[in-house]
Amino acid sequence: EGAVELPHTRFSFDGIFGTFDRAAAQRGFQVYKEVCSACHSMRLLSYRNLREIGLSEAQVQAIAATVEVQDGPNDEGQMFARPGRASDRFHSPFANEAAARAANNGALPPDFSVIAKAREGGARYLHALLTGYADAPAGFNLGQGMNYNRYFPGHQIAMAPPLNEGQVTFADQTPATVEQMAHDVATFLAWAAEPELEERRQMGVKIILFLAVLGVLAYGVKRRVWADLH
Ligand code: HEM
Repeated sequence: EGAVELPHTRFSFDGIFGTFDRAAAQRGFQVYKEVCSACHSMRLLSYRNLREIGLSEAQVQAIAATVEVQDGPNDEGQMFARPGRASDRFHSPFANEAAARAANNGALPPDFSVIAKAREGGARYLHALLTGYADAPAGFNLGQGMNYNRYFPGHQIAMAPPLNEGQVTFADQTPATVEQMAHDVATFLAWAAEPELEERRQMGVKIILFLAVLGVLAYGVKRRVWADLH
């Protein structure tokens, strides 16, 4: 059995003029931090990258400072622990793959740095997966410790439903329904995988405009040059 067709969820970044909804991306980061980061790393991101979705310097520093980073060696050749800084990479929940698998019944929670690009359907798939848990249909052979999901290829996933109604408290008072948290974390992960999306599209629009103007000029020149020929 392959993947099922995904629901047509709408995102702020759909279409050529779409941009990342900063409030949604910030709420999505909160969901990542408070829920997903217990199992999923985001090794390619640094805390300072969060400035791009609208967090202040102070907020970034406060978030970074909550983690302990191993640093060194210092002048005495010793390794030491220090609070995280904005320039540090996101803290990973497990030391290595073996530790990650040991904590997850043998399954490996994938790194999230580019997960929105790594999976077909991108944000739409992530949202569907997070809202796609259901009871297995009669006759479905669900393995020990596995969960039924409508959108996971093969429908058996080792990850238990990670989101529950009201699991986080959003500062902007947005109600934390499963649907809302799934939509927001999908937005955050889409930004993380493709932070240059807005610039790329703006460049595309500029190029189209430039070519349009150039086309009009070239046509005008052509008319003039050939005007005497009947
Ligand atoms: C797999 C999302 C929280 C454990 C995955 C995958 C995604 C995902 C997109 C990959 C699915 C695929 O391969 O197509 C999330 C999100 C979370 C979250 C957005 C937070 C809202 C957690 C937590 C745990 C966890 C808290 C551990 C308690 C796993 C494991 C897998 C997995 C073990 C591998 C599943 C398998 O291959 O069968 N998750 N996850 N996840 N996640 Fe999570």
